[in-house]
Amino acid sequence: MTSPAPVADGPAAPLGPPEPLKLWFCPNEELAPGIAATLAKHWLDEHEQEIAGRFLFERDRRQYLVAHALVRRVLALEAGVPEAEAVIWRSSRGRPFLQKPAAGLPRGGKELDFNLSHSNGHNLLGVVRHQRIGVDVERLDRGDQGFDTIVETFAAEEREWVAQAPQGRPRDRRALRLWTLKEAYSKARGLGLGLPFDSFAFTLGEDRGVLGFRPPQGDWAERWRFVELEPVPDVLAAVAVLADATTARVVELHHGFPWGRSAPRHLALPDAPAGHR
Ligand SMILES: CC(C)(COP(=O)(O)OP(=O)(O)OC[C@H]1O[C@@H](n2cnc3c(N)ncnc32)[C@H](O)[C@@H]1OP(=O)(O)O)[C@@H](O)C(=O)NCCC(=O)NCCS
Repeated sequence: MTSPAPVADGPAAPLGPPEPLKLWFCPNEELAPGIAATLAKHWLDEHEQEIAGRFLFERDRRQYLVAHALVRRVLALEAGVPEAEAVIWRSSRGRPFLQKPAAGLPRGGKELDFNLSHSNGHNLLGVVRHQRIGVDVERLDRGDQGFDTIVETFAAEEREWVAQAPQGRPRDRRALRLWTLKEAYSKARGLGLGLPFDSFAFTLGEDRGVLGFRPPQGDWAERWRFVELEPVPDVLAAVAVLADATTARVVELHHGFPWGRSAPRHLALPDAPAGHR
């Protein structure tokens, strides 16, 4: 991959080719536990070190260390801020943001947004410039947990669509597709689980793709793009990104820990979903 083209400083639309939406999917096993611990020791800030020290189970600590080493490595590649020097601040609802140096980001521009999801041994990180992004990754197999409780939080039309599928995997898949999309959207908005999941609804294609979106009050569907992915079998991921005329129509999907710049897979950014009330 070549270095990103420099983008204009300031709030106006970027000059030059638009930057694609970039995703990094990294299973925990891509980073050996000893290496993850060493990177974390050198790269993570005080807040992250403190959280890492609180986990009761080694499995959970490992997940956290890989996820946060991934964030810092990708921010170094994309923003040009060295891993240990990236200042990450959190909103009152816990959403992390990269603090922009006054002179702009070393790799150009002032704006860079990122969002992280980590779950059951998998990590997904999304990065965009000039826009907002939310991501979610979940495993289809939830063991005894099942999907009934999460489906109860959905809008009526979504609950109905889930119930129309045969019980078992087809129904679970519908539930998880909706869940990851809902999480990705509310994470892009910075609201997390603070946004009632029945206040907005998706209409989905049979296998993949968002056909329609009924946003919560005060938002509108046309400004969003949604991507659904299955980066490895039975792991579902969703991405929500704000888009406008300057947004690139390409998504770069990177796999593994980004020690260097690897060649990503390219996917098309879907069109805006139809809005409905
Ligand atoms: C964001 C949230 C939905 C995460 O859900 P999840 O499926 O358990 O976890 P995921 O792995 O997908 O995402 C977790 C990551 O999302 C990011 N995140 C945290 N809060 C976020 C928010 N409000 N919006 C977007 N992203 C958020 C963080 O990077 C977090 O990982 P980290 O804690 O290791 O840094 C959930 O934690 C939440 O609702 N948080 C908000 C809590 C809140 O409103 N607090 C009010 C102040 S007490």
